[in-house]
Amino acid sequence: MQPQCKLNVERIKEKITTLATIIDKERPLYTRRPFTEEYQQSREWLKSEMISAGLTVYVDAASNLIGERQGSRPELPPIMIGSHTDSVVGGGRFDGIIGVLGGIEIARQLMEQDVTLEHTLLIVDFTAEEASEFGISTIGSRGMVGNLTDEVLDRVNHTGLKLRKGIEQLDGRPEAINEEKKTAGDIRLYLELHIEQGPVLEQTNHELGIVTGIVGIRRFQVVCKGIANHAGTTPMNMRTDALTSASEVVLSIEDAANQSYTSQIVGTVGRLFVEPNASNVVPGHVTFDFELRSLQPDVLDEATRNIEQSIASISSKRNIEICMIPISVSDSIVIQDNIIEGIEESCNKVGSSIKLPSGAGHDANQIASIAPVGMIFVPSQNGISHSADEWTDYELVAKGVQALWNSLHYFDGCFDKI
Ligand code: GLV
Ligand code: MN
Ligand code: MN
Repeated sequence: MQPQCKLNVERIKEKITTLATIIDKERPLYTRRPFTEEYQQSREWLKSEMISAGLTVYVDAASNLIGERQGSRPELPPIMIGSHTDSVVGGGRFDGIIGVLGGIEIARQLMEQDVTLEHTLLIVDFTAEEASEFGISTIGSRGMVGNLTDEVLDRVNHTGLKLRKGIEQLDGRPEAINEEKKTAGDIRLYLELHIEQGPVLEQTNHELGIVTGIVGIRRFQVVCKGIANHAGTTPMNMRTDALTSASEVVLSIEDAANQSYTSQIVGTVGRLFVEPNASNVVPGHVTFDFELRSLQPDVLDEATRNIEQSIASISSKRNIEICMIPISVSDSIVIQDNIIEGIEESCNKVGSSIKLPSGAGHDANQIASIAPVGMIFVPSQNGISHSADEWTDYELVAKGVQALWNSLHYFDGCFDKI
């Protein structure tokens, strides 16, 4: 008989509420950007949480914080549970956080109930999952599987910090990332609990989601090189305006994502820099990032080609240089049927569930290159996420933790099912 996970709503609430106080007080609620002082502080707190949950704690070469609980058969590769605790600017209290705190809650209950799994269990707080100022997401999980190139490690962020240095400040060892990277067979299974970040569970009245696949993400930088000039004296027909050109490109990205393809795609321009950014100067230089997301790589290819063609035609029509530079790629993944089945059986003991794909990217995208992965979603109120209004009732988070516990036990005892 499988040990039962207690529905510890109050403890989960207390931990989420505490972490929500370790934030950047100068920025919108609930900002906790990676490689900042608050992030360091939250890491210290997480470390003490892991220790008090009976875990042995260490930091890997890529600076991921890892808590380990030994299994009865140390010759088996570990099962890993993880997520992230960095947030977007003005992000919420649940995105990523419930996956890490949920993992620690499971470790704590294993300790309290004196349960020893067959597999060693790793609980991981992956470094910098969200899109970072280094132009890349999922830094820690990329590092764990050896997918951080020297070019990326040498990138410098807006504060002048080199990524290598940021990793060192978190006690990582960037020079050892490749040597220590995990490869196929090193991890038996990776499980992640996360908020849905969309409306499906709430709208269909389900408590738990079983993830079937995760979108791929392609990010690009666009640079429009116009000519800065006086806004009063430069006639309209003598301007090379970087911002009006960029605006056309932004609309062409929306248009490309709105076309019909064999699978759904979304495209977003989320940030833009205008220089010199003065009301009486024709903008001389605009840089912005855009991303495309889809479950189908060929759809991403097709939309990318459409945008390239639009940029070529806007550039020639306006006689302005516009460059489109790839900055990151995260491949889509399909979750294995046997993992979906095990998670579904585990979820059904806890509440109502539905299968759905994820439109958000996750550390699971990276870990899938070396191990089978599975994800469980809990509902996001009004489908809101990446916002301070992000909300999931603590009872539902606790149910997610129970579903994760059940999944862990299901796979721990059934090697042939992984
Ligand atoms: C992470 O939250 C992402 O999907 O960008
Ligand atoms: Mn997340
Ligand atoms: Mn996020």
